[in-house]
Amino acid sequence: MASSKSLGSARPRRVYVCSSCGHSYPKWTGNCSQCREWNTLEETVVAGGNASVQVVATRGKAVPLTEVERVTATAQTTGVAELDRALSGGLVPGSVTLLGGEPGIGKSTLTMQLAASWANQGRRVLLVSAEESAAQVGQRAERLNALHDDLWLSTDAAVEAVVEQLDELAPELLIVDSIQTVHIEGAGATPGTAGQVRACAHRLVAEAKTRNMATILVGHLVKDGSLAGPKVLEHVVDTVVELSGDRHHALRLLRVAKNRFGPTDALGVFEMSMEGLSSVKDPSRLFLADRATESPGSVVFPALEGHRPLLVELQALVVPSTTPHPRRSSQGIDARRLALLLAVLERWAGLPLGAVDVFVGAVGGVAVTEPGADLPLALAVASAATGRPLNPDTVACGEVGLGGEIRQVSRSEQRLAEAHRLGFRTAVIPLSAPEPPEGMRTIRVATVAEAVKAALQADRSSPEEVSPQ
Ligand code: TYD
Ligand code: MG
Repeated sequence: MASSKSLGSARPRRVYVCSSCGHSYPKWTGNCSQCREWNTLEETVVAGGNASVQVVATRGKAVPLTEVERVTATAQTTGVAELDRALSGGLVPGSVTLLGGEPGIGKSTLTMQLAASWANQGRRVLLVSAEESAAQVGQRAERLNALHDDLWLSTDAAVEAVVEQLDELAPELLIVDSIQTVHIEGAGATPGTAGQVRACAHRLVAEAKTRNMATILVGHLVKDGSLAGPKVLEHVVDTVVELSGDRHHALRLLRVAKNRFGPTDALGVFEMSMEGLSSVKDPSRLFLADRATESPGSVVFPALEGHRPLLVELQALVVPSTTPHPRRSSQGIDARRLALLLAVLERWAGLPLGAVDVFVGAVGGVAVTEPGADLPLALAVASAATGRPLNPDTVACGEVGLGGEIRQVSRSEQRLAEAHRLGFRTAVIPLSAPEPPEGMRTIRVATVAEAVKAALQADRSSPEEVSPQ
């Protein structure tokens, strides 16, 4: 037995809702105490009476968990290999997936390819494009070779109209591009506000569940808070995936932030080309394709994205500074982490870095956030500062502490196995790290000073020594 109880007051009232995380406040403040974003609170009028929050309470007796009817969610393949990999097999009927990403990163491209692949399997898809005209979508479909009789397009942005189309077409997959541009009656005038986004999503989630229809909601990640970020929906949907990458590079990573039907540590890797996004089977090889193996300042880091190892080249450039405040610039690497490593190198490895400009970056437009990248990054800086390269068959992995000590990182075996597969034969790793695969030599180091001493090759009489000691 279930009863529902209305929580709202009868009169409309004003609340302030964070467009980034959805937390609401009775008064406006400049900073959301929940997600710490600034200037994201928006005034929203919450209607009283019928539109108030409904709480459903179960009055029935509790049952032993063993007697609960269990439903197994069977994922259906999307036909896009890397999407299936990220989603642990595909899309579950009745599930709602939020696909987030910055504008221009490839969300519409990916969903169009997915839609075509579904339709190709004889399953009907309704694509609601509330952002682009039918002609624009048709053009993209033609370019992506996605024209198909079972792929239906609607450009009506009203959720009520979408529901009508669902009644008429009964699709197995609904794609809404994007959730910030559709609107629904009774939730304020402007699409994209937290209230509208949430109301639209709630309705579409309900439709997905009652119709047992897989649904994908596309959401723009926006930094300035002008649109409600997809974060407000994370708890409403079953699965959250994010497409990321650098718009100037071809590589795109599909990460899973939440998944009610599978693990969240899977990763999909794509390459953007004129033919759309294609699945990348061997991303490490792609990352290292243009590597200049002999130059100082380059170190390969066996990174781990979820449970997938990826070899990423980290680079550093060190030049004498011409300003009283030397520059520190980093791409794809946290600037504070770089500052810390420079301090550690100066203090514990005796590298004078106070009067040089330091530039570091992760190649391929990826962001490296793991602590395990400390050691390779420190070695890259040391190599660039001294002009001494590492042996090109070397990878390095380890966290660096403030005392200059090197600590172990997780899943070392898996990282080194990937490095070995791609021909790397030397690993600079912490003392406590497990044994590497057979055929791989180790340089075990306890401190950053030891690592610099052991890993850098002899000076090849290069004149680039910018920090004479
Ligand atoms: P799009 O999918 O529209 O991005 P989003 O929906 O996330 O805003 O695509 C973004 C970019 O991708 C666009 O600038 C053009 C480029 N692109 C290709 O390089 N190849 C293609 O086949 C397509 C369809 C797009
Ligand atoms: Mg788009």
